[in-house]
Amino acid sequence: MRKPYIAGNWKMNMTPSQGAAFAKDLAKALEGSDVKVMIAPPFVTIPAVLEAVKGSNLIVAAQNMSDNLSGAFTGEVSALMLKDLGVNDVILGHSERRAIYGETDEFINKKVLLALSEGMNVDLCVGETLEEREAGKLEEILTRQVEIGLRGVSAAQMANITIAYEPVWAIGTGKTATPEDADNAHAFIRTLVEKLYTKGVAEELIIQYGGSVKASNVKALMSKEHIDGALVGGASLSVEQFLPIVSFDK
Ligand code: 13P
Repeated sequence: MRKPYIAGNWKMNMTPSQGAAFAKDLAKALEGSDVKVMIAPPFVTIPAVLEAVKGSNLIVAAQNMSDNLSGAFTGEVSALMLKDLGVNDVILGHSERRAIYGETDEFINKKVLLALSEGMNVDLCVGETLEEREAGKLEEILTRQVEIGLRGVSAAQMANITIAYEPVWAIGTGKTATPEDADNAHAFIRTLVEKLYTKGVAEELIIQYGGSVKASNVKALMSKEHIDGALVGGASLSVEQFLPIVSFDK
């Protein structure tokens, strides 16, 4: 049985004081809930958020990290620094990192392996652009992103991997993939993982959907067999919008 996992990617939003105030409200609203919930603030906002959610079950993750542990890498933040703060989860390969900052599958894979070797949990994002989907390349793109992204990851380490399927054309656009389209992509990813590992690993894998998830569509998405969670952008920035998403089954 896969436990639902709902995550909020704040992207470049929320100053430390805004983030702390929001996280405090969210933690209070989620008191007593047993849903697995993660929030990913910007790096500088993380310490204030960690302090604000102390004692709650909320997972605080980073949105990215360096492919190195330390050294002359101006502007980068390493796994060691995150772990020293108490952060053990990281989102890697988000389409904005791929498209805007030129991150390749190989580069993302290097970070995935580093995070895992540091004992961290990874939320690996994959997904096709509209152009790729319309050219009939959905499966080719997902195969490449999953195969290279997970290269060198052992079956045992797969317990620390979540995959987020985020079709690029659905991110921040208000266009959601239909639950059927999303479920088909998730099923394809699960089959790929079965081929790379085992049926057991594939069945345990949590696959989140991301791209314009809102209170109004989360239930239909989460009712699908292969959709185990959500990675939410815009609607994760207010308690009024995020809470009903987290409580989709209530
Ligand atoms: P939106 O929910 O704003 O479409 O963003 C999705 C996303 O990119 C989460 O990582």
